[in-house]
Amino acid sequence: MAGKPNGTIGILTAGGDCPGLNAVIRGVSKAAMHYGIKVIGIRDGFRGLVENCTMPLDNALVSGVLTHGGTFLGSSRDKPHKMQVGNKTVDRTDDAVRTYRKLKLDCLVCLGGNGTQKTAFRLHNRGGINVLTLPKTIDNDVAETDITFGFDSAMAIATEAIDRLHTTATSHQRIIVCEIMGHSAGWLCLGAGIAGGADVILIPEIPYDLEAVARHILERQQAGKRFSLIAVAEGVVSREEAKARATADRLTNELGALTRIVTHPSSQSGEGVHLVQEPVASRIARNLQQLTGVEARVTSLGHVQRGGPPTPFDRLLCTRLGTMAGELLADHHYNIMVGLKGTECVPVPLKRVAGIKRIVPPNHPWIKTARLVETCLGADT
Ligand code: F6P
Repeated sequence: MAGKPNGTIGILTAGGDCPGLNAVIRGVSKAAMHYGIKVIGIRDGFRGLVENCTMPLDNALVSGVLTHGGTFLGSSRDKPHKMQVGNKTVDRTDDAVRTYRKLKLDCLVCLGGNGTQKTAFRLHNRGGINVLTLPKTIDNDVAETDITFGFDSAMAIATEAIDRLHTTATSHQRIIVCEIMGHSAGWLCLGAGIAGGADVILIPEIPYDLEAVARHILERQQAGKRFSLIAVAEGVVSREEAKARATADRLTNELGALTRIVTHPSSQSGEGVHLVQEPVASRIARNLQQLTGVEARVTSLGHVQRGGPPTPFDRLLCTRLGTMAGELLADHHYNIMVGLKGTECVPVPLKRVAGIKRIVPPNHPWIKTARLVETCLGADT
């Protein structure tokens, strides 16, 4: 039952999709409607705000979507201040703010990852609008929350894939290299790697030494284990690449005006100019086959990890985060992200989130856990 009229909010989903987006839209909308707040859906991320492409949401529209993958509002990676018009990049922040004012919104609710947190904060600062964000991404790399929604579902998919690859790797006595998403953070690969019992886990936070990985595979062979399952995060770098990147960064800083051209090698998204390279897992598999003499194969999980229904954990998390957002909106509490700290959903000032990437710290308990079950993390130490 809706309460007495209590303002209007817009809601959008931006960036790469993930399981749980519809569950959050439902949670926010139902709770907001409960408190008398009108909800307007904005299509295709920030593009819908810039182009005034919206749809009013009601109880019927947000019912029955809890378990559905993707986002019924649509998503995009567009940012109002960097809209692509033909081959030009145009700042359309004013158009985004105009739509917000025209719709008489009291707050814009943005479901998204790192880029979205930054864009929402920018819109608040530059456009003077109220925003509230929720931490979405399979990468789990948003600051000020213990976990992002979508991560658990993606980890379940990647773990199942590793399980399946294990049996075929065993049958054929092969190395199988499985490439896992995560952008430049290793959470997804590390989590799924440990859960799937991968023999080697390579993450961006620990530059790898391929000779050390080859030694580990050969030691396994000597111990009678004739296959090896290697979980590789898409953002990994070798020790040599890490050194080259550090030098390039230093030079870039020193020369100031130089454009950064060395970025996350396998990503097609994010900022900067990207070099088109062979997928990192293929290169690793080819080199490991040469170093060990063991036949190697590659599987890249890609967008399979972002598809399909959310896990029960994510459904619960999404519903809790969404309804907490609804309560905060009813209290006119804005310019925050709602995150999970321990067992509690809590508001965090957006300025503590925007522009900060949460990567796997070297002393994270999962690192020690992996080492204690004899998993090679790509370096001897
Ligand atoms: O941020 C989520 C993510 O799936 C990353 O893990 C990956 O690097 C990227 O998005 C892929 O983006 P796109 O769907 O635009 O190819």
